[in-house]
Amino acid sequence: MKATRTRLPGITLRDGAASDADAVARLLSVVNPDDAEAFDDVRLVLEMPHEGPLSHSRVLVVLAEDGSGRQIGALFAGPPFWLFDHPVTNHPALLEDLVARIGIISAVAVDPSYRGRGVGAELIRHAVRRFTRAGYGMLTLNCFPALEGYYKRLGFTIMDDLIVHLRDGRMAGPVWDDTRVAARPLDRHTALATVPGLGSPVVSGILPGSRVPDGAYFDGEKLRN
Ligand SMILES: CC(C)(COP(=O)(O)OP(=O)(O)OC[C@H]1O[C@@H](n2cnc3c(N)ncnc32)[C@H](O)[C@@H]1OP(=O)(O)O)[C@@H](O)C(=O)NCCC(=O)NCCS
Repeated sequence: MKATRTRLPGITLRDGAASDADAVARLLSVVNPDDAEAFDDVRLVLEMPHEGPLSHSRVLVVLAEDGSGRQIGALFAGPPFWLFDHPVTNHPALLEDLVARIGIISAVAVDPSYRGRGVGAELIRHAVRRFTRAGYGMLTLNCFPALEGYYKRLGFTIMDDLIVHLRDGRMAGPVWDDTRVAARPLDRHTALATVPGLGSPVVSGILPGSRVPDGAYFDGEKLRN
């Protein structure tokens, strides 16, 4: 499989393969130590054929390797699952559109002996490029408080809530009480708009007709202008 060089000597990135399942599981196990099954899905993903738009359809699994071919970092990203559970977005046509435009990095981890050398940043920058190239408008992630500054330096905006404007003032977003959200617009159509009445910026322009109009405000139910 084609490896991508990084600016770090000897470190390359490549898409995950079925034979990487144990290495990926080992690397990602530190992200959610209380839940041993948190990333079991990644094993199933790695069994899938390699096909676009990401590494495995709408999922991206990327490995970082050192010069000897040892897996030292992993990133797992794909569709935000809240879209499937949300009463507003859980409609087949809308869901299909949104899944093609919003991605989430579910987990990124670097082997403890390689941390602090920029491997994590290379994995995240690579994900930004892959999602951008695949036509996405927004990349998001749940952000541990200690890593807020880190993600800011990587071009993400940190917010209490993720709120996505759909159309005609209607909005949708996940309820994540325990973590804040990091989000990064990926194309010229998508932006984070400040809206009076809302404590977090609103994702504007993710779908055609979903731009937050100038002068929009939140009336407690929907956007008006
Ligand atoms: C977060 C993680 C992926 C970063 O990978 P890395 O290769 O060490 O990161 P980089 O070398 O690119 O950058 C190091 C930066 O991360 C910061 N950082 C890493 N872990 C941190 C932590 N737990 N608390 C605070 N800062 C942290 C460092 O201070 C440094 O900041 P700087 O860019 O201002 O110098 C890695 O620390 C890791 O695997 N952590 C455990 C899993 C995890 O928490 N994943 C994130 C949630 S999915």
